[in-house]
Amino acid sequence: MQNCCSGLRPCTLRFVAKYVPKAAAEVNAYPEPLHILINNAAATPAKFSVTEDGLERQMATNHIGPFLFTNLVLPKIVASRTPSLTPRVIFISSDAHAFTPGLDISTLAQPTPEKYKTVFEPYNDTKSANVLTTVELASRLKGKVNVYTLHPGLIYSGLMSKPGSLADLQEYKILDADGQPNKDLPYEWKTVSEGAATTVVAAFDPGLSDKSGAYLRDCQVTKDDVAPHSTDPERASQLWKATEKIVGQSFDFRLFGTPFGAQLQSLVSQH
Ligand SMILES: NC(=O)c1ccc[n+]([C@@H]2O[C@H](COP(=O)([O-])OP(=O)(O)OC[C@H]3O[C@@H](n4cnc5c(N)ncnc54)[C@H](OP(=O)(O)O)[C@@H]3O)[C@@H](O)[C@H]2O)c1
Repeated sequence: MQNCCSGLRPCTLRFVAKYVPKAAAEVNAYPEPLHILINNAAATPAKFSVTEDGLERQMATNHIGPFLFTNLVLPKIVASRTPSLTPRVIFISSDAHAFTPGLDISTLAQPTPEKYKTVFEPYNDTKSANVLTTVELASRLKGKVNVYTLHPGLIYSGLMSKPGSLADLQEYKILDADGQPNKDLPYEWKTVSEGAATTVVAAFDPGLSDKSGAYLRDCQVTKDDVAPHSTDPERASQLWKATEKIVGQSFDFRLFGTPFGAQLQSLVSQH
């Protein structure tokens, strides 16, 4: 981080069209290379609402905003490769991706409150979208950039301690009557540092270099914890195309790393 001049720049992912391209343009203008992108942000589960883009609030923040941001900065990430360093993109998902019977891709563009019975259903869908996006992006990038997704663990983080989500988290017995972690849950609570460990492994462990597309849990690659509906390549491709349609841009990386691709990219960025 010694040479990092970028510092902290807040960006609201929820208003996809308004802020995400602006944030990506800012990052693309940084003089330093971009070796690791961690898509960590997630909206607090709360009552159904739509953003000014007409998207479900959690889906906009957790999937569509990060999808667009990642794709807009990907040329810079690819250009940051060196013979000894392959950059990485990480999508922080959750084991909650497996609590959905399968993301209904057809409703992403026009969400309705009737579709969601609890505040957690959109969250679970967004976490499935994170895994599917990892699968598709890893397949498209073919090792030019490595892509990972993961479950950080159950952590009493900012996501859990916002006043807006307290009642829902208590109703589902995730937090106790005092608003503290419910120790009777069949899952182990992690501290914030323990929760960050799997992300650090995904970002830096050289042992993962040939495992692009992997899902990590407890700092290890796992296949047992991933729901088949979230790793199905057909569905991953469908979600990619549906999300491209929503953001109004298509992204094709087959030319990345070729001289023609670089020429094309520089023409695009001049306009
Ligand atoms: N905590 C858990 O038990 C758990 C379990 C599984 C997976 N995860 C995943 O872990 C990741 C990190 O979550 P966390 O638990 O560490 O919660 P957190 O501390 O609340 O982190 C979430 C971050 O997302 C930011 N954010 C929320 N809405 C945003 C928006 N519209 N635009 C830009 N940024 C926004 C928040 O910023 P503000 O604070 O400024 O709102 C916060 O910095 C998430 O992807 C979550 O789904 C967490």
